Amino acid sequence: MNIFYSKTPYRSRGFYVRMRLLHNTRYSRNPEKSFWYRFFKWILWFSLVFYFFSSFLITHTKRTTFISKATVSPSKVSRALIEESPVKSSTLQEPKSPQGLLKGMKVYIYDMPSKYNSDWLSNDRCSNHLFASEVAIHRALMNSDVRTLDPWDADFFFVPVYVSCNFSKVNGFPDIGHARPLLFSAVQRISTQLPFWNRSRGSDHIFVASHDFGSCFHTMEDVAMADRVPEFLRNSIILQTFGVKYKHPCQDVENVVIPPYVSPENVRSTLEKSPLMGRREIFAFFRGKMEVHPKNISGRFYSKRVRTEIWQKYGNNRRFYLRRHRLAGYQSEIANSIFCLAPLGWAPWSPRLVESVVLGCVPVIIADGIRLPFPSAVPWAEISVTVAEKDVKKLGKILEHVAATNLTAIQKNLWDAKIRRALLFNNPMEEGDATFQVLVALSEKLDRTMPHRIVQLSWPEIDQMLASVAIAGGHNLMLCM
Ligand SMILES: *[C@@H]1O[C@H](CO)[C@@H](O)[C@H](O)[C@H]1NC(C)=O
Ligand SMILES: *[C@@H]1O[C@H](CO)[C@@H](O)[C@H](O)[C@H]1NC(C)=O
Ligand SMILES: *[C@@H]1O[C@H](CO)[C@@H](O)[C@H](O)[C@H]1NC(C)=O
Ligand SMILES: *[C@@H]1O[C@H](CO)[C@@H](O)[C@H](O)[C@H]1NC(C)=O
Repeated sequence: MNIFYSKTPYRSRGFYVRMRLLHNTRYSRNPEKSFWYRFFKWILWFSLVFYFFSSFLITHTKRTTFISKATVSPSKVSRALIEESPVKSSTLQEPKSPQGLLKGMKVYIYDMPSKYNSDWLSNDRCSNHLFASEVAIHRALMNSDVRTLDPWDADFFFVPVYVSCNFSKVNGFPDIGHARPLLFSAVQRISTQLPFWNRSRGSDHIFVASHDFGSCFHTMEDVAMADRVPEFLRNSIILQTFGVKYKHPCQDVENVVIPPYVSPENVRSTLEKSPLMGRREIFAFFRGKMEVHPKNISGRFYSKRVRTEIWQKYGNNRRFYLRRHRLAGYQSEIANSIFCLAPLGWAPWSPRLVESVVLGCVPVIIADGIRLPFPSAVPWAEISVTVAEKDVKKLGKILEHVAATNLTAIQKNLWDAKIRRALLFNNPMEEGDATFQVLVALSEKLDRTMPHRIVQLSWPEIDQMLASVAIAGGHNLMLCM
């Protein structure tokens, strides 16, 4: 079921100079044409100069990156000038309806040959494992009303390439050696076949990077950091599971942190057996890899030895239910636990963050500096407990303290259906779910991305644009300030 309505022609927000060039076709027959034409042109130029000046004052520290960020094709009048206001309104309140939240945004999805995506799905695991958000987001967008089949109408371009699908059997890591060549070939293809990549140098194009070190496309941090974000993707928007609050080469690109994939069907069936507000028998739960003697792999230890410390200190504590081996039914254990530990692995994020929230177990986040998904929809500080990596030896005391003081408050926040919905990818998309949150995050970039195009307009292009507006006739021209 679709929850969006058709796009409104344009949104009135921000403060702008709005000029109505009504029935422009008349001008061609009107002797006053050249006077009005020059008059409007003069106003437009004046306003643009004012805009550049004021935006310089406001954002001069970042101006150079803005300018280098995008170019505009002279062959098309920028939607930014005609329809978009770059300044977020502080006076006009947007209604909080779905189409209000998403600002009538439209996304074009490239139709790629199956070797880029659906071929990988021959392995069932590819659409269900923790990296499957690349598949889930693609599917949800295909069925959503934000999708447009007309690329000229699009605000963003989604490039569906699945790179996290196949696994190396030797060490359990996803084998993503093919990711860079596959993505490169995808970019080659779309940039030669359609004009949109070149128009913006990819800055309105969206990719998913759903494995350990996100947009670096490597599973080991040292290699990932050395490889960095592939050159050809550096202007684009990457939806990635990896995120930290400090500077890191693997998020050195416009990005949105997304949750790892957890199957909504599995969650639903687990909750049917163990209801959210039912009795929880386990105090603190963790199941997963805990190395007793972690190996030094090019100077790094798995989980920075945090999991090893947890195992050593709490392995025999009867309030801690710690298991080192995988078990298919582990979701029911989470649903039966009060606190669920979510320590870092190789990367800071883990599927446990999502699983514990959606199954109502308070996540205990042990991953210094982690940047969590959708902070505007999920008030992480109110639904979780954060323990610094260096304090992991005090974990027991910390959890006892929370249990004795504010556990009830945290659980009450956590069990809010809205919050739990925000972390699951449904197909079709549901209002407020993870794909919806991705779209909200993208729609917030609309206002920021569009001015880049304005800055790029040269005077001959403005001339050309005015001419084409006059030719098109009957347009509302909104000049953004
Ligand atoms: C993953 O895909 C690549 C490219 O098709 C292939 O070369 C590699 O063998 C695959 N790995 C596994 C474990 O299937
Ligand atoms: C985009 O630019 C590349 C490199 O300059 C060029 O090879 C390609 O033909 C261009 N694409 C289109 C559609 O013009
Ligand atoms: C881990 O190995 C690296 C070499 O790969 C070495 O320089 C470093 O000292 C080792 N660290 C520890 C704690 O053993
Ligand atoms: C619970 O208490 C801890 C300190 O004891 C505090 O840091 C945390 O913010 C509190 N959480 C909530 C949701 O009240």
